Amino acid sequence: MAKFQPTPGMRLQIGASIYEFVPHPLLPRDMGEVYVIEGGEAIIYQIYDRAVDEYIALKLMKFAYRGESIARATAQLQNYVQIPGLALCQRVCLTRASHPQVIALYPELEYAILMPWISGRSWAGFMQDRVASERYQPANAITLAMATAQVMWELEAHHVVHTDIAGSNIVFSPDYRRVELLDLENIFIPQLPARQRQSQGTPGYQHRHLPSEGQRHRAGDRFAGAILLAEMLAWADPAIRAQTSPDAESLFQPQELQDVNAPRFQAVRHAIWNICTSVLPLFDQAWTSKDLMSCPEMGTWALTLIEASVRR
Ligand SMILES: Nc1ncnc2c1ncn2[C@@H]1O[C@H](COP(=O)(O)OP(=O)(O)O)[C@@H](O)[C@H]1O
Ligand SMILES: [Mg+2]
Repeated sequence: MAKFQPTPGMRLQIGASIYEFVPHPLLPRDMGEVYVIEGGEAIIYQIYDRAVDEYIALKLMKFAYRGESIARATAQLQNYVQIPGLALCQRVCLTRASHPQVIALYPELEYAILMPWISGRSWAGFMQDRVASERYQPANAITLAMATAQVMWELEAHHVVHTDIAGSNIVFSPDYRRVELLDLENIFIPQLPARQRQSQGTPGYQHRHLPSEGQRHRAGDRFAGAILLAEMLAWADPAIRAQTSPDAESLFQPQELQDVNAPRFQAVRHAIWNICTSVLPLFDQAWTSKDLMSCPEMGTWALTLIEASVRR
């Protein structure tokens, strides 16, 4: 049994495939660091399958988050792979039953997930890149918000709830027209047996009055979705960017959310008014809502944004 400490070029055989760890793209090569991203619940490695020339993501769950439910969720997710925005439903979960050899070698890989590597950047990463953000125009904002709202509308139409909509859990293409959701292990599908764990979502996106099951609720994406769409629209306003701390991963601080007197709320309203007036009532409705169900449906956001983009 070995400790799992990958180095660039290290090979890992999983089933019939051999993957290679790749050097970190931003760090000097002589540091010997592999391409890895640390999330709240997991560590994500980029690995390379030379035989088919493909990059793959290996998501290693942190110890507290490993469990049989990951394998069960993986099996369910296969049914949703065709839904736009849910390409990462195509995945494999490593278990003792399915991949005994690699887990015998590296026990930390139990319940790790293999999935396609999505190139593109996360919304949270984009907000932190002020050079790229300077080029972000109102037309880009409407295109990205529309693509995002359409994906969330699709989820809603299929009775699928992501449960952790946040800037770090969405990536988009350079032309702002395609988005993919990440972090799908906690997806909630009402007709399937519930998992024990509730989902509180990510700070900066949480409704003040979440029910006991948190965002594992049929309207669980509505508030976080409204905040994410407001971020995408308002970010095209240079004044909003100037008022945001350079390392912020979300537009709002948790304590500002739903405070109608927060100066930030007024500033974001002003930005949205200028960029896409017709969605302002939807943002206001979510902000002043008493619970998740009173937030606008994602279909309403999508239709309003589609109309706005046609009118431009
Ligand atoms: N399949 C993927 N392709 C590319 N990047 C990914 C992929 N999965 C995760 N990431 C990157 O890793 C980060 C954390 O992944 P995530 O699945 O959200 O982990 P956590 O459950 O810890 O939040 C994401 O914000 C993204 O930058
Ligand atoms: Mg995440």
